[in-house]
Amino acid sequence: MRLILLGFGVVGQSLVKLLLSHSTDLYNEYGIKPKVVACADHGGIITCDQGLDLDMLLSVKKKKRSVVQYGPKVDKSEIIDVIENMDAETVIELTPTNIIDGEPGKSHIITAMKSGKNVITVNKGPLALEFPSLMELAEYNRIAFKFSGTVGGGTPILEFAKRCLKGDRILSFEGILNGTTNYILSKMYEGLNFSEALKNASEKGYAEKDPTLDIDGYDAVAKLVIASNLVMNMKSTMNNVERMGIRGVERTQVMKERKNGNAIKLIASCDGKNLVVRPKPVSTKDPICVDGILNAITFTCQHSGQQTIIGKGAGGMETASSILRDLIDIRTVIRS
Ligand code: HSE
Repeated sequence: MRLILLGFGVVGQSLVKLLLSHSTDLYNEYGIKPKVVACADHGGIITCDQGLDLDMLLSVKKKKRSVVQYGPKVDKSEIIDVIENMDAETVIELTPTNIIDGEPGKSHIITAMKSGKNVITVNKGPLALEFPSLMELAEYNRIAFKFSGTVGGGTPILEFAKRCLKGDRILSFEGILNGTTNYILSKMYEGLNFSEALKNASEKGYAEKDPTLDIDGYDAVAKLVIASNLVMNMKSTMNNVERMGIRGVERTQVMKERKNGNAIKLIASCDGKNLVVRPKPVSTKDPICVDGILNAITFTCQHSGQQTIIGKGAGGMETASSILRDLIDIRTVIRS
């Protein structure tokens, strides 16, 4: 399978490590022999028709900070040309989330779709801004469009709702969709202050490139929009969400709730009509009251009642595992 990799930060590098360490399993179990034929980062894009050497790619990135030191680079402005014209089946779009206009991810995704290439992305911006039109474009061009890692990182929240709860009707859902703020709130519960906790989260690679996206609730809003469109068939956009971040949460408030058996959590909720993201006290006995970078979401269903899924919502390897999952799904469809 010939892959174009756009974005080579924590998640992109983790994905390449996974491709290397899982190569035997991927081939034996799923018939996947991945070849990364192009890779882009902030410096530009490099291509190799025979497939880039993945060990070398990682080492160049580590030592020289940009993949373009690997070999002759194609200019950054020519990324769109590469997406259009390079012989490849799947584009993996991992540029940072931009919730203002979705770029450059949006153009990458649209170009890939129009060139008949499958798309896998963990970039939330384009989907949060233009979910319905991207889904339509994917269908029109008959390509697979997979974005499992946009919600829940490595935890298959979207698949759980779409596949495992098939046949039942999801009436509402609520939970923790942002790992960074949950990590910060958990650390505040333990007594750390806000800025120390944020520094920790950024160093560990959980926070967005621009951490205000996490802190002010935009990341959770983007995920809520994606989940409500996919799971509840809503036609929502980011403007439809009532939003409040965690900037105003005081340590004294956290401690007061702690005495009452609660923890303050940034909760995203959807009841089929209203979409809300805001910090609120949650009983520590509630299954969604999880700590650290964990995400947890409870779906309330018409027949099967409440179902909660919990797992790591951020982190390079965790999110990269969702891309592998999507890749296997695409391969399975091509095979059948
Ligand atoms: N910054 C995001 C989070 C990363 O903390 O949840 C995963 O989407």
